Order: sequence, then C-alpha cells, then structure tokens
Amino acid sequence: MELKTNIHALRGEIAVPGDKSISHRAVMFGALANGTTRITNFLTGEDCLSTIDCFRKMGVVITQQGNEVIVEGKGIDGLIEPTHILNVGNSGTTTRLLLGILAACPFHACLIGDDSIAKRPMDRVTKPLKQMGAHIDGREEGRYTPLAIRGGQLQPITYHSPVASAQVKSAILLAGLHAEGTTTVIEPHQSRDHTERMLRAFGADVRVDGLSVSVTGRQTLQAIDIEVPGDISSAAFFLVAGAIVPNSEITLKHVGINPTRTGIIDVLKNMGANISIKNVRHEESEPVADITVRTSTLKATHIGGDIIPRLIDEIPIIALLATQAEGTTIITDASELKVKETDRIATVVSELRKLGADIEATEDGMIIHGKTPLYAENTVVDSYGDHRIGMMLAIAACITKGSVTLQHSEAIAVSYPTFFDHLRMLQS
Ligand code: S3P
Repeated sequence: MELKTNIHALRGEIAVPGDKSISHRAVMFGALANGTTRITNFLTGEDCLSTIDCFRKMGVVITQQGNEVIVEGKGIDGLIEPTHILNVGNSGTTTRLLLGILAACPFHACLIGDDSIAKRPMDRVTKPLKQMGAHIDGREEGRYTPLAIRGGQLQPITYHSPVASAQVKSAILLAGLHAEGTTTVIEPHQSRDHTERMLRAFGADVRVDGLSVSVTGRQTLQAIDIEVPGDISSAAFFLVAGAIVPNSEITLKHVGINPTRTGIIDVLKNMGANISIKNVRHEESEPVADITVRTSTLKATHIGGDIIPRLIDEIPIIALLATQAEGTTIITDASELKVKETDRIATVVSELRKLGADIEATEDGMIIHGKTPLYAENTVVDSYGDHRIGMMLAIAACITKGSVTLQHSEAIAVSYPTFFDHLRMLQS
C-alpha cells in the first residue's frame, strides 16, 4: 500500500486496542477455570483469534462479539483431544503458552503455524516441558513446528531459564499448575508478569521472590471478569509519532502501564520527550493511565541490560525515534530480536536505511546516528510479514519526504487491526 508521507501534524485522542499478552491469557486461563469468564476490550487481532480458535478445537465454548468475549471454562482438567490440527498462525505466545497447557493434558495434539512461526525456536519451552514429563516431537527434535505433543502426569521442576522470556516462564508455570509439588522458574532479568498477576486474579497461589516465580500444582482457577487495558506496545507507535511528527499532540487513553512493560516511557523521557502520564488507576490486576505526548527535541541514549525485556517489542519503533535524536543511540543486549516475527535487527536496519537513516546492525542490537532527515523516491519498504515492522514503517513515512510503498501491510492486523484508521483520525 501507498503510505502517507510528510505529515504536518498528528493531533487528537485515541484508545489503542486491548493488550495482546493479556487478551491471550484471559482466554487461556478462562478456558482452564471453573465458571464463565467475561472479557471486555479483548484484542481482536489475528494472534488472539488464533488462541480462541485453538481452544474451541479443544471443546471450549467461546463466544465473541466484537471486543467482548465469553469463555465457558472447562476446569483445569476439562480440555478434550482436538480432532484437528491446532493452527497458531503467526503467534509465538499462543504456541508457547499452549504447549505449557498441553504438557499436562493426557491426549495427543498437533501444532502448526505460519512460515514465521516455523523459524522460531520452540525448544526453549519443549526442553523444560519434556523434563517435566511431556512427550513432544517436532522438526529437529522439537525445536521447530510442526509439533506433536502428548501430555500427562508431570513432575515439578526448578528451571533456570537462560532467557528472560514471559512465554517460557508462563509455559512452565502453566504446566506446573498440574504437577504434584512446587514448580519454580528463575529468570536472568524480569520479563512481563501478566501471567503471575492474572493467575492470582483467578484465585491461584503464585509466589514471587525476586526473579523466582513458583506455583504449586493441582490448584483450581475461578472464572472472573476481565477488562483488558490498552496495549502499551501498540500505543508505542503513536507515542513515538507524537514526539517526532511536527506540531503534534496525541493523548492515548486507558493504556496499560504495568512496570514490566513501560521501558518505552523511560526511554522517551531519557531522550527528552515531552510526555505526561495522567489519571493512573488500578483495574483488577493491572495499572492503567492516559498518556499525552507532544512534538519534542530529542537526544540520543544507551539502551541495554535490565530494561530490554521491558521494551523488547518496542525496539523497532525506538530505532525510528533514535534517527530523530541528536547524537548516537546504542542498543545492546537485545539479541532476542533475532527470533521475533522476523529477525528484527536485520529488518529494522535494512528498511530504515532505505529511507536514509544512518543505522547499523550489531551482534546484539543496533547503533543509530541522528538526527537524519528521512527521504524517499518511490521507495518500496517491506514489513516481511512482521506487524511491528509494518507499523514502524508507516510512522517513519509520516516524517519522510517523497513517496513510500509498504509491502505486506496486511501483517499489521496481527496486533492492531485499526492502526491505519487511528493514524487517519489523528491527521484530520
Ligand atoms: C509475550 C512475551 C514476549 C513478547 C511477546 C509477547 C507474552 O516474548 O515479545 O510479544 O505475551 O508473553 P518472549 O517471551 O519471547 O520474550
């Protein structure tokens, strides 16, 4: 599609769609609970619809009307053997959390996803789940999809995860809910904690001690009502847009500000962005707020270490932000980017370079020299099927002089189906 370039202002108020991580978990935990879970502001992006589809195939009755979803819980042991292959689409969260749940189910299931999923490492969950007693096979001994799994009786484990990954942590904790005894996951840095918060809201006993999280097996979950906060990872595109497009002022309403997700706000502040957070409130287990950002004069920063898991999904848009900051921004400790929907170090660097950015890839991040004007002469950029690369490029086009075409723009529907409507609303 042809992207809008050289935009003179972005002004107004929007409510970004529901959080992707929380929407997935609400359906999954609702399916395992006793009773009916009602979810509002559910993200109807393709990834979360894949989760609904997989649980329907295991006998769970789920009704979806727009952003409202009702899940008739089957109880902790109530899922049934699926007749058909479970298709996880493009969703890593669906794949990895589902494997954790299936590890304890005494039946056979097959998982398949799209071409991107087929390249993403699944042994980070299949290895510990096999240690717990699940039978899993797949390409390269269970490293890649398609995967076949037969679950059953599980042993609890204490697992030192080599990566800070909420998907790994959640998969093991979900399996641990079924194991006799205490299962513990210890992470190198803290990853997002939506699983811990939501399991507690469903009545489970989850113990957190620094970087270690434990659950005891054979607990039951009780259905709840969940209002999903706006996704800060989706808001991030407009937070950056508001800071770099001239004459802009954007307010994002009802955004989740869980501290394990707010690295983007810390980075914007460190870089000098004019950003304010108002109306902070606690809804069920997650904090939310309204965030306003205005056009800002930006300076470079260094991003690495503990903050990386708190902004891992925002690095593509942070790279664009850094092209508009005075000085050299260095991103380190982010090699996880290579195993996301695309190799995001490679795709960010190649696509931003096409627009004139001074950016280079490193082994575990990027170096970006700013500030550079972006320009294009009938330039074709590509999301490579990665929603966050597609949205980053659409925001980059807003400050680009010339004309830009985005290939594979449809990928954006994975997490933000109304992205272009919101971008248009802010222009008028
Ligand atoms: C997610 C965890 C993160 C994140 C992904 C969603 C989750 O992945 O990048 O978009 O919902 O648990 P990792 O667990 O691989 O870090």
